[in-house]
Amino acid sequence: MSATAKKTAPMPHDIMARKGHVPLVSLTAYTTPMAQVMDAHCDFVLVGDSVGMVLHGLPSTLGVTMEMMVMHGQAVSRGLSSAMMVIDMPFGSYEQSPQQAFENAAHLMAQTNAGAVKLEGGETMGETIAFLVKRGIPVMAHIGLTPQSINTLGGYKVQGRDAQADQVLADAHAVADAGAFAVVLEKIPEMLADQITNAIAIPTIGIGASVGCDGQILVVDDMLGLFTAFKAKFVKRYAHLGADAETAIAAYAAEVRSRKFPTAQHVFSTQSPTKEASK
Ligand code: KIV
Repeated sequence: MSATAKKTAPMPHDIMARKGHVPLVSLTAYTTPMAQVMDAHCDFVLVGDSVGMVLHGLPSTLGVTMEMMVMHGQAVSRGLSSAMMVIDMPFGSYEQSPQQAFENAAHLMAQTNAGAVKLEGGETMGETIAFLVKRGIPVMAHIGLTPQSINTLGGYKVQGRDAQADQVLADAHAVADAGAFAVVLEKIPEMLADQITNAIAIPTIGIGASVGCDGQILVVDDMLGLFTAFKAKFVKRYAHLGADAETAIAAYAAEVRSRKFPTAQHVFSTQSPTKEASK
């Protein structure tokens, strides 16, 4: 590849081929500027339904709608050129039947240009995943802690401890057998994540799972310190942008109140501007 050649976005089969190689890098994104910042660094970007909590202030992901996903998907798509975009199917848009799932997945992909959809669930979603894949919709699965099911799971607890491990392993096999091209493993014990990674042929993407997974994903607002309502154990903060923003806003407020802002460099004279001054 020449130094100037543009990297093209990977497709689901490229992501699949990365099984067992250099770990896949992924983050969530919800807006164009954030997508632009991560485009060159990520293999795929997820328009996660976490958008409901981190950008819209919802108490969980359950209130996220198709309209919200389409709007944020379109925004993220405008910011990506070299990373693949995956989009979450919101709660209530796929669980009823494979047909319902197809209709909504096709709508999401057509409206946002996403390369694949992600949906939550293991064995119970096997038939739906197979139905979508057979009809041209690449599916990333999501098992372990599935936040859309917090009301039946009883909260954001670690999944797959003790006797539950067999079910999570069965879920992993079910989604791989159904044709998912990758699977997110959320908040499960490290040893179970390693066991699943070794047992199935598709890449595992860990979040609160294991460094041995085939890739990792984090919610971007968590790792940048922009979302501070709570911090899960699996989140590493690589920056503290929320605190930095508050410091900056406090400085602005103080300067406005003390008439230190704006200064001469931020206001306009009555004379015709030179090219430079009119900027
Ligand atoms: O919605 C989301 O951000 C997700 C990730 C946590 C994997 O599903």
